[in-house]
Amino acid sequence: MYSILYERIQLSIQNLPFSPPSFTKEEEEAVLDCVKSKWVGTGPKTIDFEKKFASYKEVKYAAALSSCTSALFLSLKALGIQEGDEVITTAMTFCSSVNVIMHCGAKPILCDIDLYSKNIDVNQIEKLITSKTKAIIPVHYAGFPCQMNKIMEVASEYDLYVVEDCAHAIESKLNHQHCGTFGDIGCFSFYATKNIAIGEGGMAISNHESLVSKVRMLGLHGLSRDAWKRFESSNRKSYDVIDIGYKMNLTDIQSAIGIVQLKRLGEMRKRRKEIWDFYNENLQKYNLELPNLPKDKGSVHALHLYTIGLPPSIDRDQFVWQASHEYGITLGIHYKSINTFSIYKKILPNYEPKTSLPVSFDWGNRTISLSCSGGTSETHCERVLDTIKKLLN
Ligand SMILES: Cc1ncc(COP(=O)(O)O)c(C=O)c1O
Repeated sequence: MYSILYERIQLSIQNLPFSPPSFTKEEEEAVLDCVKSKWVGTGPKTIDFEKKFASYKEVKYAAALSSCTSALFLSLKALGIQEGDEVITTAMTFCSSVNVIMHCGAKPILCDIDLYSKNIDVNQIEKLITSKTKAIIPVHYAGFPCQMNKIMEVASEYDLYVVEDCAHAIESKLNHQHCGTFGDIGCFSFYATKNIAIGEGGMAISNHESLVSKVRMLGLHGLSRDAWKRFESSNRKSYDVIDIGYKMNLTDIQSAIGIVQLKRLGEMRKRRKEIWDFYNENLQKYNLELPNLPKDKGSVHALHLYTIGLPPSIDRDQFVWQASHEYGITLGIHYKSINTFSIYKKILPNYEPKTSLPVSFDWGNRTISLSCSGGTSETHCERVLDTIKKLLN
């Protein structure tokens, strides 16, 4: 009783982070077990996490990696994306989806977004395709499933690879099919604020065994067999180095947390749904653009980010600054349109900030995200709401 009261008082005065994770005794014990086992690198827990995640996503293969960025990068590498190639992606995404294209030596081609879902505008993809286009990276923004049927139609017509950025889309589905299983490969994030939070981590999933094997091999130095198999006493054989790989594997400590979080996915989603409904109900009467949900019955929104649009008259950056400095509330910005950041202005100069990608530009100037995670308490939500109301007034 006293501890609940103490927690409430603390929450009413302290600075509150954006979308804190939800951890229980089970996550703590899983980490402790792993430490006690003395196997803390990539090993049995990571293999188990891969199997369980693949089974949850109803897909054949999964490779656990250090982040979604690693998964995206290694997927493009495994598909042979290289200098001279072009890859189409949305302008409304985290810089990571664009940087991985650049790291392969290829050129990102930015597509504007659809007003309703804020996902890549499928009607604009075709006009961006050239003889150099090799792949499309759709991003299921906030957890809203992209129109994958249309994207796959275009990809098949022009013989393009599709790498799904599912950083927000662990539970997302379209027509009853899991996001991440439409394209060649799907990439997930387990960063601290994500629907499964393990600190840092990612997963690449696919029904193509050779693709997932290549991603895994490239993520572990290009070795012919992974460290777990190398050190397993029954399998002490020498290994070969078959490619110039990277070091992007996931550890058993992180996987141990991931296994518990995956099991708790339904329970954490239930909490996010309560938060979603609370914000919807209480923000309805204000001049705000509230998040949309897919209209078709077979689709599932992952409820990852509760993103709202402020009226254009409000200075969004000032709003976010005040929320943090005056009220101790951290809001998210997902995202400024990619073409407005200084590095991309320099290297992708042909995008005029305001007019080339108008929908993305407008949304990128107005959007804020409110804390919405399994670990966001009722007091936290009330303070977020109170802050929004005060700042709007
Ligand atoms: C849309 C999107 N793609 C990729 C990433 C990269 O994920 P990670 O931090 O796991 O590398 C993020 C991270 O927030 C993201 O939001």
